[in-house]
Amino acid sequence: MAKIVLGVTSSVSLYKACEVLRGFQKAGHEVQVIMTRNAAKLVSPLLFNSLSGHRTIIELFDEDHPWSVAHIALAKEAALLVVAPATANIIAKFAAGVADDFLSTFYLAVGAPVLIAPAMNEAMFLHPQTRDNVTRLRRRGVEFVEPAKGHLACGDEGWGRLAEPDEIVRRGLELLKEKVSLAGRTVLVTAGPTREYLDPVRYLSNRSSGKMGYEVAREALLRGARVILVSGPTHEIPPAGAELIRADAAAEMEREVLKRFPKSDIVVMAAAVADFSFAARADRKIKKQALPEDLKLVPTRDILKTLGERKKGQFLVGFAAETDDVKANALKKIKSKRLDLIVANDVSKQGLGFDADDNQALLIDARGRVTDAPRMSKRELSRVIWDAIEASLGSKR
Ligand code: CTP
Repeated sequence: MAKIVLGVTSSVSLYKACEVLRGFQKAGHEVQVIMTRNAAKLVSPLLFNSLSGHRTIIELFDEDHPWSVAHIALAKEAALLVVAPATANIIAKFAAGVADDFLSTFYLAVGAPVLIAPAMNEAMFLHPQTRDNVTRLRRRGVEFVEPAKGHLACGDEGWGRLAEPDEIVRRGLELLKEKVSLAGRTVLVTAGPTREYLDPVRYLSNRSSGKMGYEVAREALLRGARVILVSGPTHEIPPAGAELIRADAAAEMEREVLKRFPKSDIVVMAAAVADFSFAARADRKIKKQALPEDLKLVPTRDILKTLGERKKGQFLVGFAAETDDVKANALKKIKSKRLDLIVANDVSKQGLGFDADDNQALLIDARGRVTDAPRMSKRELSRVIWDAIEASLGSKR
């Protein structure tokens, strides 16, 4: 049994929060409700008191019940925070870190997965400001159950209707399960490009944004793993809870990865490690006039191949960026690098893969089992990747 905190905000659809609460209880969990002041004006908190068996929390400072530090105590106990329905206002407050009532303060204090089910008028939902807020929260690992299209309280038809309670409960339960499925495992993830320096200011690099690797790390954290993220230079926000190690050049990334390899259970090499570096690196900036006649490139060492040679029970996942014969090339790489799973991307498609939010991939494990992941966000793909890793791990044992 887990303790689930259900945040209820002031949308007319808040009566459906009762069904969400019941759904979690039916699955055997305990639910504590937090309402916003406006929500408590729409429906009496007494209703949630009797359904949940706990006094509904509304105020941060309550003379009769000093909750002032309760948000910290409750944050430690909570296995999941679900906000259903969530107004545009609470989403904006979460995104900006405003903590002016119990629910928004609780959001900042809680380390558990967060699931938000928005409900609002279509124009508000599609407003660029709301879209920005949702994107920001998603980037931090917050999950959303997208609203459905249908009849809205304002009389309009459109997007913004609270998702079905069953769907919210299903997603919430998935997040709870995910939290424990990798408990006790140490996961090493590499992400982003590397920089091969010519001199202190100039380098050779590639278009990798680091998004895919950061999502893989984020998902592993959600599933309860200890996560070490060895990252090349990126602008991505590191997932909270990961041990972050920065590495610039391929040789540096290799050093950091090899150091941590013996203590890792699963390694996901999502980094786009440069295949070439300069034969010589100048200590001082090369003057224009001293432009070298030719720049000699030498191959870098293949980190993944070294890991394949040295592995002692570790589960090894590689990526493959291909433009032709994706499957055949991926199969060759699985063998030559002694991988347990390969995630092959077709990088010839516009708007996918490198430096994009979406990706599409073919996942192949060492037994030849293939999962075809059609175009989806890197967030979603990270779930598919971990599901495939867990399935292979299960059949390996
Ligand atoms: N990789 C690595 N060290 C390198 C180069 C690549 O560990 N020096 C890893 C990447 O992190 C990725 C995988 O190898 O997980 C595949 O990289 P990719 O560039 O697709 O393949 P290569 O083996 O470099 O082969 P090619 O460029 O010929 O396709």
